Amino acid sequence: MTKPLISVSNLSIGYGCRVLMKNMSFDINRGDVFAIMGPSGCGKSTLLRVMTGLIAPLSGTISVGGRDFTGDECARCDIMRNIGILYQGGALFGSMTVAENIELPLRQYTGYSDSMIRDIVDMKLTLVGLPGVGDLYPSQLSGGMKKRAGLARALALDPQIVYFDEPSAGLDPIASRQLDDLILEINHAMGTTIILVSHELESIFTVANNSIFLDTARHEISGRGNPNDLRRNPPNATIKQFLTRGKTNEKSAE
Ligand SMILES: Nc1ncnc2c1ncn2[C@@H]1O[C@H](COP(=O)(O)OP(=O)(O)O)[C@@H](O)[C@H]1O
Ligand SMILES: [Mg+2]
Repeated sequence: MTKPLISVSNLSIGYGCRVLMKNMSFDINRGDVFAIMGPSGCGKSTLLRVMTGLIAPLSGTISVGGRDFTGDECARCDIMRNIGILYQGGALFGSMTVAENIELPLRQYTGYSDSMIRDIVDMKLTLVGLPGVGDLYPSQLSGGMKKRAGLARALALDPQIVYFDEPSAGLDPIASRQLDDLILEINHAMGTTIILVSHELESIFTVANNSIFLDTARHEISGRGNPNDLRRNPPNATIKQFLTRGKTNEKSAE
């Protein structure tokens, strides 16, 4: 058996003395599209922040490629260099052009020349379906284009893992589906491991091959596996209700 790319062990997360989730253990394999599911406020974004090293867990460990980065500042920096994050809304700097936004991580982490950086920016914009928009400002882009530009920035350093927080939030159904297609394309074409936080069921069922469900009341993971399998055989009433949007008399969400 191949070793997991990410291994989370006995992880508890929260703020101060408020514990959101406790004793979480799960693995993510290389090439997975892994969904973190759960109702609003259960701690999905917090888990993402902990997994990307932005905040510390209350306890437990997270290792990436066999290296535990909790409590090891050096490992944390190395790991952060190898991940991309697409925040809700794209989180582009409004005073910079799209190209300047994508250049940021390249200027921060590499010694590439200006012309090389320009080539990489053009390549990433083409990859996300936005060729030629580098000179525009974020305010000139639609919601879907902002997410794509944010994704181009997240991909600038060719990360092996990309984290998405609610990728389809605020998008119309067509833009949302196009973003799902793009996520799968990047996963297939580059083997990038994708971890996404979402409560958009359609998107989860389309893109994810593995998942965990965070249960607010129990403060723990109460289900795991392929979301489509979880929908067919929900392990408990909470997951059944979540995955069928409360239509518990029906067999599926569609
Ligand atoms: N920086 C923070 N300090 C204290 N509490 C926070 C902070 N960020 C989020 N929370 C609280 O933690 C809970 C989980 O938040 P979050 O992880 O954003 O949930 P989700 O992404 O699942 O909707 C919420 O009750 C939220 O108010
Ligand atoms: Mg959130």
